[in-house]
Amino acid sequence: MGTINFGIVGLGRIGKIHLTNVQLYCPNAQVVAACRVSDDKKDFLHQNRVERYFDTYEQMVNDPDIHAVIIASPTAFHYEHILLAAQAGKHIFCEKPIDLSYDKVQHVVAEVAAARVHFMVGFNRRFDPNVLKLKQAIDQGKTGTPQIVKIVSRDPGPPPLDYIKTSGGLFLDMAIHDFDMARYLVGDEVVQVQSNGTVFGSLPVDQYDDIDTAMTTLIFKNGCMAQIDNSRNSSYGYDQRLEVFGAEGMYAMKNIFEDSVFAQDANGYHSARTKYFFIERYEASYRKIIQSFVTTLSNNQPSEVTAEDGLAALSIAMAAKKSLKENNPIAVN
Ligand SMILES: NC(=O)c1ccc[n+]([C@@H]2O[C@H](COP(=O)([O-])OP(=O)(O)OC[C@H]3O[C@@H](n4cnc5c(N)ncnc54)[C@H](O)[C@@H]3O)[C@@H](O)[C@H]2O)c1
Repeated sequence: MGTINFGIVGLGRIGKIHLTNVQLYCPNAQVVAACRVSDDKKDFLHQNRVERYFDTYEQMVNDPDIHAVIIASPTAFHYEHILLAAQAGKHIFCEKPIDLSYDKVQHVVAEVAAARVHFMVGFNRRFDPNVLKLKQAIDQGKTGTPQIVKIVSRDPGPPPLDYIKTSGGLFLDMAIHDFDMARYLVGDEVVQVQSNGTVFGSLPVDQYDDIDTAMTTLIFKNGCMAQIDNSRNSSYGYDQRLEVFGAEGMYAMKNIFEDSVFAQDANGYHSARTKYFFIERYEASYRKIIQSFVTTLSNNQPSEVTAEDGLAALSIAMAAKKSLKENNPIAVN
């Protein structure tokens, strides 16, 4: 394949990141078109050399110049956008979660396979250089088979209520990254999920049947246990830590700070705050995941994060939601 022409749908927080990463860091790909372009996005698109706008997504995916799409629209539109792209024979990069319905995601798995198009879901954290190093150590046997995984994933603040309303909630929208991370690091499937959760913050997320704090335990087929703690209200900033323990040793990932200057005085040890939020902390991973997708297309090779991975993470997230409701462990098939 020569230069890959992308069309992008959704130009919010994450769409803009993917677009600029393609234009700046993917030499054999370019975003050539966008759709649903409001006036306030036109300067951004012009600065990034995107001059074609389509009135509808359907027109964009059916344009013969477009080889692949980046779906960065709100989750509620992913399903429709995926099916239209698959029907038009276009390769698909889709943000997480693929959808909030198990049946629909199962249908996506079947449709992209039938259409023989490449598909990648946006679990970008797998591509963080620190996570990659940790995964490599596990694969090289340096921890031994993982027995315990601990993930701390706390946001500096909640998203607006308007976002929460349709996002799927903490488990399906936020912790789904951590569920994917646990599967990725352990290299096995989850068979049981148990969760607890509540609302501690002032944002009334409970009006949308949501929570802002959760603890989830995953049990894997091979017996490994993963514990994941999530909060939407970390007063000290974005907190992203990991630990993998096995018979041979322990590998861990610490937080990354805004700078590396530290000080010690009579009041103790002081450092900068952690990187502000996902855009800053996972900057490199967003670049690497889209480069990985371009490589998939250029070399016609399997995607590193498949629709099946999206379905597996969704199943865990749905089980966590059910466990919280029923106050019971939930089996995952
Ligand atoms: N991988 C990650 O780290 C990550 C981070 C944030 C968001 N996301 C995911 O990305 C998706 C978008 O999230 P966001 O935070 O960028 O949202 P956002 O609200 O910032 O942006 C969404 C954009 O889509 C546009 N839009 C709305 N309806 C549309 C439609 N029907 N057709 C086309 N465009 C439409 C909006 O105008 C807006 O520009 C969500 O699925 C979210 O879960 C992933």
